[in-house]
Amino acid sequence: MKRYLITLALACSLACTPKSSTPVYLDPSQPIEARVNDALGRMTLEEKVAMTHAQSKFSSAGVPRLGIPELWHTDGPHGIRPEVLWDDWDQAGWTNDSCTAFPALINLAATWNRDMALLYGDCIGAEARYREKDILLGPGINICRTPLGGRTFEYMGEDPYLAGQLVAPYVKGVQQNGVAACVKHFAVNNQEMRRTSTNSIVDDRTLYEIYLPAFKAAVQEGGAWAVMGSYNLYNGQFNCHNHRLLCDILKDEWNFDGVVISDWGGCRDDDEPITNGLDIEMGTWTNGLRGAASNSYDNYHLARPYLERLKDGRATEEELDGKVRRILRTVFRTSMSPEPHFGSFTSPEHFQAAREIAADGIVLLKNDGVLPLKLHEGARLLVVGENAYKMMVVGGGSSNLKTKYESIPLDALQEAFDGHCEVVWERGYVGDTTTDYNKVVTGQDLSESRSAAQLMADALEQARMAEVVLYIGGLNKSAYQDNESTDRLDITLPYGQDALIEALAQVAGKLVVVNISGSPVAMPWASRINAIVQAWYGGSEAGHALADVLTGAVNPSGKLPFTMPLALADGPLKTERQYPGIKPEGETWWQEYYDEGVFVGYRWYDTQDIPVQFPFGHGLSYTTFDLKDARVRKAGDGFRVSATLTNTGSVAGAQVVQLYVADPEASVARPAKELKGFQKVYLKPGESRQLSFTLDKQALSFFDADAHAWVAEPGDFQALLGFSSADIRAVVSFTLASK
Ligand code: GLC
Repeated sequence: MKRYLITLALACSLACTPKSSTPVYLDPSQPIEARVNDALGRMTLEEKVAMTHAQSKFSSAGVPRLGIPELWHTDGPHGIRPEVLWDDWDQAGWTNDSCTAFPALINLAATWNRDMALLYGDCIGAEARYREKDILLGPGINICRTPLGGRTFEYMGEDPYLAGQLVAPYVKGVQQNGVAACVKHFAVNNQEMRRTSTNSIVDDRTLYEIYLPAFKAAVQEGGAWAVMGSYNLYNGQFNCHNHRLLCDILKDEWNFDGVVISDWGGCRDDDEPITNGLDIEMGTWTNGLRGAASNSYDNYHLARPYLERLKDGRATEEELDGKVRRILRTVFRTSMSPEPHFGSFTSPEHFQAAREIAADGIVLLKNDGVLPLKLHEGARLLVVGENAYKMMVVGGGSSNLKTKYESIPLDALQEAFDGHCEVVWERGYVGDTTTDYNKVVTGQDLSESRSAAQLMADALEQARMAEVVLYIGGLNKSAYQDNESTDRLDITLPYGQDALIEALAQVAGKLVVVNISGSPVAMPWASRINAIVQAWYGGSEAGHALADVLTGAVNPSGKLPFTMPLALADGPLKTERQYPGIKPEGETWWQEYYDEGVFVGYRWYDTQDIPVQFPFGHGLSYTTFDLKDARVRKAGDGFRVSATLTNTGSVAGAQVVQLYVADPEASVARPAKELKGFQKVYLKPGESRQLSFTLDKQALSFFDADAHAWVAEPGDFQALLGFSSADIRAVVSFTLASK
């Protein structure tokens, strides 16, 4: 607000100043490029260089002499990080920066709902603007290549089309608040293990078909104003100054006109950043990776070393001007935007949005009719599991948040059943007793004196007396359990949960399991459970959202954004060189080979006919749906596929109709099916809706690396319509006559 008032005062003073004497860069009515050129022409060399690197932990310099403010960057993808110290990760201890914690992005992905993505972006963008932040360091959209990926919870699943379709509205939502969305981490950054020392070796077809499309959608459909380079190397060059990724692809092929910033400490060289597309070096201490004196921002690669190179001719002012133009463009799009933006913070609307998004992404995996919960008057509902109680907005890494309040499942369930039946809780196991992260605290006491055996015995004793047992467990964003900088070590549930679930299944009348995680987990007990729900880190309203679904206040409509395999070994990563990488003799960095190519997630399991626990795109409802009259017809250069969806059940609900394409005659090995369309449709009982999908040639194409072009080969294709990648309800065939 403060900076807006300054800008407003400036604008008012301008209004009283004769037009001719108003500097163009300060005149919001002027075209943005004219403002950029005018400002650039007024800057000194030192002022230009200062803009290209951090001046504090989360800000990069402006031009005070010209009244151009610094740029404030903020994590993260799920909410606005509490203010940190000028030159440290620890909290500044403000009392007015408790935000709305929105659901983890994997939860948004599970909604398969473009409207929810726009709503999410608009709310988080408003919170960033209110907190006077200009660049939101999110969303993260790296593909889930391995279920072990430590930041899978922060990303949007295993399919590039799904991620691309959701990231674009999220970016638009953020930026309509005068805040730059900074999509990350560009690119092929698909694990946390050795994330700053691993070289991703990927062939071009895989790069263009799997790992680039979501970023391309963010830039070209979402209009992203910022991109963050990733810590890893790609084809031997660090990604925060990777010429091929940042110059050839992002800025040249995609015409990206925004700003490229480094991940914190991701800039690793004095010379490459100058010519390889990095615009702002952010980080920690000196060049971000080595500990050194604090406040040593002048030691950054794009600081004193850069100035020296400019002065001795090793670098040109033209390159520098290219960076500063992008930075100034970002300033004129955000804090000095022509449209005034005020933002809003922790409003009832934002918490309601968080609750709706969280619920819309909860996935009903299995249900024998025990859900929605119907309990007799005075009955006992036993809730077992640490995740019913543990607050999980705090933790996980840089997406850690200090939220105004967090609704936990146990409280929400007691609220929902208050006056109707008794809700009791047994912890069942001890997972993570941490209650703080970066000095943000939850205030809970998770200490426990009972042994594991006693905890289980207490739960089983209670289970015998309950009408229904509701198990709420899973992972918890602690180290190795969905956490930045550590990958998971396997997909088995930790803390002895499988044994506890099996024991409960023996004694419970009815057992519902809710798995709260941000990545796939093995469910060896699935056949012995009445109902299974996949919930996510749902943010401030996690508890209410889960209770809404379990009680039937909300009919579940979420769909899995990744495959739940039966076993990790069933996946496509069979060798150490594929994951987590190898270090051959003489190599400085770890080498990771994406030998599986495009066969990631369901592209692998479906093509290899490998059975899975629950397939990509799977999710049930409390109602039923039918899909009929599927047909395909030529439409211009492409094809139009249509079908009629009907709610054949007794309650209103939503279905996500998914469209996959198969190219059985391809001259290259292509996946059995590839997602190329989806629509989420809410219908009343008995209501029908005709759906229509467009398949253009791009949707039929594979990437020909030799030709460096997308190719749609003439021949027969199939369009598969269904409610998951494995639940195909209709197949229509068509022939593409010519390229
Ligand atoms: C972290 C993360 C990045 C985050 C940045 C600032 O290392 O990789 O996602 O935005 O640093 O916290």
